[in-house]
Amino acid sequence: MFLLNCWYVAAWSHEVQGTDLLSRKLLGEQVVLFRKESGGVAALVDRCSHRFAPLSMGRREGDCLRCMYHGLVFDGQGECVEEPGRKRPSSGIAVKSFPVVERYKQIWIWMGDPALSDPSLVPDCHWQDDPNWRSIPAYIHYKADYRLILDNLLDFSHLSFVHENTLGGSVSIAETKPKIEVTDSAVKITRWYKSEPELAPYLRGVTDLEGPIDRWNIYELFVPGNVFNMDSGSAPAGTGAPEGNRVAEALQFHAVQIITPEDERNAHFFWAYAHNFNLESSNLTERLAARIQEGFEEDRNFIEAQQKVVDESGDDPMAYIFVDAGLTHGRRLLASLLAREKNINVDA
Ligand code: FES
Ligand SMILES: [Fe+2]
Repeated sequence: MFLLNCWYVAAWSHEVQGTDLLSRKLLGEQVVLFRKESGGVAALVDRCSHRFAPLSMGRREGDCLRCMYHGLVFDGQGECVEEPGRKRPSSGIAVKSFPVVERYKQIWIWMGDPALSDPSLVPDCHWQDDPNWRSIPAYIHYKADYRLILDNLLDFSHLSFVHENTLGGSVSIAETKPKIEVTDSAVKITRWYKSEPELAPYLRGVTDLEGPIDRWNIYELFVPGNVFNMDSGSAPAGTGAPEGNRVAEALQFHAVQIITPEDERNAHFFWAYAHNFNLESSNLTERLAARIQEGFEEDRNFIEAQQKVVDESGDDPMAYIFVDAGLTHGRRLLASLLAREKNINVDA
């Protein structure tokens, strides 16, 4: 089950360029995205209303898309504007369209009630296109229920084990009790690891900074759209980072990770891990992204393997342990938002 009335990331902007057509399944529905000649992006259901040919096998013409089976032409709103051989198209042959907003180098789509699609509800992810930060737009496909990915993000104790040699390192991460706050749409988690002897493995040798360090992960998972925003970093120990003083040597990051369900058992994971230090370095961003990608592949391997076991386990209950507080709040919040949306739809 998915929340419908919220903005999801459908694609990175660079994936929808020129006359290319991008077909992607989102929330169980096959969608075709295309860039109009006038610049904006349109999203239509990837199924011609006539004989159900995929519109993604069609051709962009100006601001429209022509089905290349029998030639119907649809505009960005899904209206049929041309039917070969007729002065005016037959009635009732429009295809479904979806509202889209292009922001932060991403194309956001609203799969629910179009009347509720307010562009001001797109969550702030400006770090992805802010000149004071640098990142590389990246994507991973998951063969897993999106909720297992959310669970993973709400429980960083796994950094000590899954990411022992990459993003994590010290076992003290797993031993740390996070501060957890829950709002009506997000779970916020604050984790401090003070006076760690060493940097996380992926940061060693990146700059002159060495341990001991104070390290932090302060993040929010905004449940509508599954948008994860994280302030993280490492600073020389005792220089006041926990009190808000970020000295010049500190390595500061802002990660944006967004999960869009493809269907019940697959998900799209869009990520950009921005840094605001050494922006003049020609390849630092690429080097960091490669190391972080290595860590994210570790997550994917684990979660996809976990999904297989979950599927074979029927209704067997999972055990609850100390580290599960964050993900339990996340699951509860998602369930309450789903229930609320269902009631709204029933009442409407
Ligand atoms: S299937 Fe598209 S025009 Fe016939
Ligand atoms: Fe992870």
